[in-house]
Amino acid sequence: MKKKELARRRTFGIISHPDAGKTTLTEKLLLFGGAIHTAGAVKSNKITKTATSDFMEIEKQRGISVATSVMGFEYNNYKINILDTPGHKDFAEDTYRTLTAVDSVILVIDCVKGVEEQTRKLMNVCRMRSIPVIIFINKLDREGRDPFSLLDELESELGIHTHPLTWPIGIGLRFQGVYNLYERKLNLFSPSKTRISDDIIAIGNLASPKLDEHIGSDSAEKLREETAIIEGVYEPFNKDHYSDAYLAPVFFGSAINNFGVKELLDTFVEIAPSPQPRETNLRKVEPSEDVFSGFIFKIHANLDPNHRDRIAFCRVCSGRFERNKYYYHTRLEKEIRFATPTSFMANEKSIIDDAWPGDVIGLYDTGFFKISDTLTEGEQFVFKGIPRFSPEIFRQLINKNPFKAKQLDKGIRQLSDEGVAQLFLRQQGNIKIVGTVGEMQFEVIKFRLLHEYGAECDLQPMNIHKAYWFTSKNSEQYERFLNLQNLHIAYDKDNHPVFLAEGSWSFNIAQEMFPEIEFHLTSEFKTNEDAVQSIQQWGEK
Ligand code: G4P
Repeated sequence: MKKKELARRRTFGIISHPDAGKTTLTEKLLLFGGAIHTAGAVKSNKITKTATSDFMEIEKQRGISVATSVMGFEYNNYKINILDTPGHKDFAEDTYRTLTAVDSVILVIDCVKGVEEQTRKLMNVCRMRSIPVIIFINKLDREGRDPFSLLDELESELGIHTHPLTWPIGIGLRFQGVYNLYERKLNLFSPSKTRISDDIIAIGNLASPKLDEHIGSDSAEKLREETAIIEGVYEPFNKDHYSDAYLAPVFFGSAINNFGVKELLDTFVEIAPSPQPRETNLRKVEPSEDVFSGFIFKIHANLDPNHRDRIAFCRVCSGRFERNKYYYHTRLEKEIRFATPTSFMANEKSIIDDAWPGDVIGLYDTGFFKISDTLTEGEQFVFKGIPRFSPEIFRQLINKNPFKAKQLDKGIRQLSDEGVAQLFLRQQGNIKIVGTVGEMQFEVIKFRLLHEYGAECDLQPMNIHKAYWFTSKNSEQYERFLNLQNLHIAYDKDNHPVFLAEGSWSFNIAQEMFPEIEFHLTSEFKTNEDAVQSIQQWGEK
């Protein structure tokens, strides 16, 4: 039973730079799975471009996105779990965390724009975690770029080898369809926003005159030339190279027209990895193990200010999760039982009795979970790979109502447990420093502190450039650094000291003065040096 359940699960995320077509593609995949029946059902999940500082809008979106955070559906006897990732860059950290809970990703690229800023950052995270990637080049109905130049750009900018599995015939107004190089089938394009199936013609040998009949001699000749180049230039497709995150298969299509999506989905279920093993601080946990384990990668607060309860999203990593059974919360060292665990099937939430590795369950939380908490059947370990990254903007939290100091303190701690922002405490003067990736999060924080905790605050800009976690083998130097930089040191939620550098110059001086101190832009430096390197590059971009 367990083996079968494992083999048929595919848990993945769809990532893209905003506007490339992530929401549209998600929706089409759900339509294929019969999980939704109308277009537009997922659309509202998105934080729109206009919402830059409209927090009412954010609240509305937040409510909707609880339901679509995880979208599970059945397709051809596969159980597919799509984990939603916010496209807006201000919520990038949420996306990075969600990527810790997937086994693979589909990356959507706009064929007009090619690789964009968020594409690079997201791919850096995928590379750092060796997540297998399939690329979908979208909007072929638009006058986009030459497919070869797009592939070149993907390879050089994203640092991954590519191999096209479908190939476009024309583009924009001259777009005629795609040839499936894997299955040797021709799929002709006709713009349609509602149809699911396309006319697919088997053409095993491209030399066949049948090809000319369907797409005309000029296009047929061009396709023959281009496929010859593909065969000559790109390494043959090898599933292991994809699983090892060395090579990304590429598909071309138009999500809005439902074109090329079925090829993508059919190949995806066939080649994408089933639930993968995960590292802990003690050992590697295999999904096939008998005992349950899982970790929390996302926490969602209740929208109703009268109810402080939250939903914690737990990725099942091994064994079988069962309702009403006691599980061990390894940080609190406490047994906890869940009476109403939920699963997420497309837009519906329902109580479940059990769940398998790869599944994401919603656990009702009255405040005992923090992001990255681990649940087991008694073993004392924590899952690794959920680092915190240095925030990009820092503000000092100022209490505006002395009678509400307790509420403010509680509120900001809980929001930081949820991962809305990072909280650093500077002992001198008891200063609370809030760090985020984007301005919009400050709006969310202010709004939620007031509405959920009745606490009024100001968030004053601070002259801080980056937060560096640090380590040293030289304890004398470490202590000296702590004392000398006293005013620039604060403590994160795990009470680890961080160096809050005012600018790259102050960081450079610190590095020169203390050569035996190692600085890290993520909180998980001890476990994965490659990750640190990759994230440092990420931070520098
Ligand atoms: P995102 O989640 O990655 O941000 O992108 P989303 O799916 O919302 O798509 C962004 C815009 O691109 C949308 O247009 C969408 O309709 C359009 N789009 C998606 N796929 C295709 C495609 O294959 N071809 C073309 N031509 N357009 C595509 P919008 O005007 O921003 O929104 P809407 O008014 O259409 O909803």
